[in-house]
Formats: sequence, structure tokens, C-alpha cells
Amino acid sequence: MTDKTEKSDLMDKIVSLCKRRGFVFPGSEIYGGLANSWDYGPLGVELKNNIKNLWWKTFVHGRDDMQGIDAALIMNPKIWEASGHTTAGFADPMVDCKKCKKRFRSDHLPEDTKICPDCKGELTEPRMFNLMFRTFIGPVEDESALAYLRPETAQAMFVDFKNIIDTMHPKIPFGIAQMGRAFRNEITPGNFIFRTREFEQMEIEYFVREKDWQEFFEYWLDQMHQWMDLIGLSSDKIHHLEVPDGERAHYSKRTVDFEYDFPFGRKELYGIAYRADFDLKNHMEQSGVDLRYFDDMSGERFLPHVIEPTFGVDRTLLAVLSESYTEDEVNGEIRTYLKLPTIIAPYKVAVFPLLANKPQLVEKAREIYNDLKLEMRVAWDDGGNIGKRYRRQDEIGTPYCVTVDFDTIEKDDTVTVRDRDTLEQTRVRASELKNYLREKIK
Ligand code: GAP
Repeated sequence: MTDKTEKSDLMDKIVSLCKRRGFVFPGSEIYGGLANSWDYGPLGVELKNNIKNLWWKTFVHGRDDMQGIDAALIMNPKIWEASGHTTAGFADPMVDCKKCKKRFRSDHLPEDTKICPDCKGELTEPRMFNLMFRTFIGPVEDESALAYLRPETAQAMFVDFKNIIDTMHPKIPFGIAQMGRAFRNEITPGNFIFRTREFEQMEIEYFVREKDWQEFFEYWLDQMHQWMDLIGLSSDKIHHLEVPDGERAHYSKRTVDFEYDFPFGRKELYGIAYRADFDLKNHMEQSGVDLRYFDDMSGERFLPHVIEPTFGVDRTLLAVLSESYTEDEVNGEIRTYLKLPTIIAPYKVAVFPLLANKPQLVEKAREIYNDLKLEMRVAWDDGGNIGKRYRRQDEIGTPYCVTVDFDTIEKDDTVTVRDRDTLEQTRVRASELKNYLREKIK
């Protein structure tokens, strides 16, 4: 963000750009929307998939000690009893305004507030509200058919623990990773895609011997920092919050929240928790299935402890967009661009014919476009003048624009490659373009 961009309206600008350029739309919009639901559009889904693929590549494919899974969203409801989610462990304190009927999380209001922040009406006493979405399996909607949409991806890693050790025979320490949707009936969703009722998580349960938990907690703290660096978040905007006793989730013996300076303030981006053997122990007791790990070197059988690094996908997107939204001045005009790291940008390159009505230019540009497309995500644009096309690509964060002009056809078979951030333009031989971009994108 430059000085020209006030923090207060940065969020409005990001939301507006997301809508205008097909990143994020309000959900169910033609029906007047649905409170705080959002749809990812053509550009948003590319950015999101790039983030998820990079995460999977980094933490699953890039490691020898990680197993990936993709479990069902609706699981046996006994799981949520064993995990503590059906009890007060997964509930937020809710208050209602007696006058305007608005509902708030009392822990989000200043301490001891008994007055509605909106209309100054009197607030009710706090009541605990369970965040899990309920549904019914089959045609009869009674208690025996009750099920829940998962409120975190984590539990599947514990429930599938035995299947993983029986089939993959991992050596401790090892992890199980999953990414996917989670649902929480949040009392006060808000701040665009920051807090929604349906969101995606990327989670790891890393199983260790109890004596090693501190070492691996520090190790994963560092791995999470490296990830944030990889996706371009600046370290001075990231802060550790050591969550004190009494405020941690019911399962955690130590939690560090990674807070990020979002345009609307410093808020939780990710977290890491030491869940000890809370989950495996409870699932072993409730299911009656032995979930102990057998170490064939030492002959020990024991319940591993677990370190859980957890990453919200939608908050990652929001942090990346906040970080990369930039305004500068070009030829006396404000230019808006997304300074996205190339590795996650929706398009890596855009190809233009200088003039859309000159068949030789279009043909040559198409040839280049089709060739590049085999290897990287490429945009095609032949609308309006070159300046407008650059602005359009800048706004969606395309790092390189390639223009085919008359020199390409008539003179030396070179094209112009323009850099989003430096605005530098370089002439590159068409035959060497792929290699040139390959190097840049690497
Ligand atoms: N398994 C641990 C767990 O679920 P959490 O702190 O409740 O921990 C993990 O959630 C991450 O999921 C958060 O750090 C955040 O990035 C994301 N998250 C949680 N609730 C969210 C919501 N309502 N909307 C968007 N993202 C959310």
C-alpha cells in the first residue's frame, strides 16, 4: 500500500476490485444475497487454487513425512461428541439487543458492556451458542438422524489415523494433511471473506512423541513463517499472539495465533496448537478401537501427541490481496495493480496483438498465445488500446504482458515483454520467449 491509499478505504477498494474483476462476488446476489456468503469468480478460483496447490506441494509433496487425505464432510456424529464439539467446548457467548434485536458475540464487545453498540438498547445475558450446522441423514428428521457439517477438517485426521498407519506405515514423527470446507454458524460473520459461515481450511496434524512436542512446535512455527514468506506476506505485518490459559480452545495446551495487519485491523490469520493426545485418546475411548502407534524399533505402543498448524484459505486470500493491492502514479494517472507473487498470480502472462484489426498481428499473437498456453496460464486481450490492456492486466496481477507489433512481423521477430512492477519493456525474440518467461516465472 502506498501513502496515497488510506487504510480506511483500502478494504472498500479491494472489495470493489474483487467484484469488478471477477475475483469474489456476493453469494446469491440476484436474490438479494445471503448474509455474508461469497462466491469465487473466474479469477478468484484461480488465485485460490494456486494457493491451495502451492500449499499441497509445499507441505505434502515436498515432504517425506506427510500423508494427504480428503475425507467426507458429514461424519458420524459420535465424532463430534468425542472431540468436544457438541458440548460447550465449541460454542460462543451470544447476546441479543432487546430493542433492535441484533445479535452479537459478547466476547467481541468491550468487557462488561450491557448496551447495544448500534442502538444503545439493553443487551440480554450471554447464552452459549453451538457453532455447528445441523442436518439430518435420510428422510426422517429426528434426533437419531441428526448429523453435523464438519466445523474443522482436523477430526478426519484423527479418525483416519489407524487407516493411515495400517496402510502407509509412517515412522513417527509424521503428519496427515487435508484441505477442504468447514462450516460454522458464526454469530457475527463479517469483513468480507474474513469470517464466513462456510470457508476452507488447510490443516496438518503432526504426530510426535510427547517428549518432543516443544521442539516440533517451534519447528512448525518456523515452517508457517516460511509459508507466509512464500506467498508474499511481509513479516512486519505478522504478529504472534500467545493465547493465554483460559482462552485457548478446549483441546489445546499451547496455542499461538498468527495475527496479520488486515486493512480493518490486526486479526487472526492462522494458528498453531499443541493438542497433546486429546483427540486420539477420546476417539480411542469412544470408539473402542486401539489407536496407539506401534514403534517396531523399540517395541513401544503409545498414543502420539500432536502439533496442529492450521491455515484458513479465505483469510490467506484476503491477506494476499491486502498485501498486494498497490497504487502508484504513471503519466500523471493513478495506476492500480496487484503485486501478486508470480507463483500464485491467476495469469502468469497476457498476450496482445498491437492492433486487433491487423490479421498478421493477430495470427502471430495467437500462435504465441497457443504455444505458451501449453505450459502456463495465459490471458488473451485484444480490446481497446495497449494502455487500457496493461491497466486491465495490472489490476488482476498479471506479472508479464507480451505485445506483438509490426517489428515482430516485418523486422526482427521480436516481441515486447512488459513487467508489471517495474514497467520495464524488453524486446525478446519470439523463438526465445518461452524460455525467457520460464526463467522469470520460476
Ligand atoms: N482445527 C483447528 C481449528 O479449526 P480455528 O482457529 O478454529 O482452529 C483455523 O480455525 C483457521 O480457520 C483460522 O486460523 C482461520 O484462518 C480459519 N477460520 C476459522 N473460522 C473461520 C471463519 N468463520 N471464516 C473464515 N475462516 C475461518
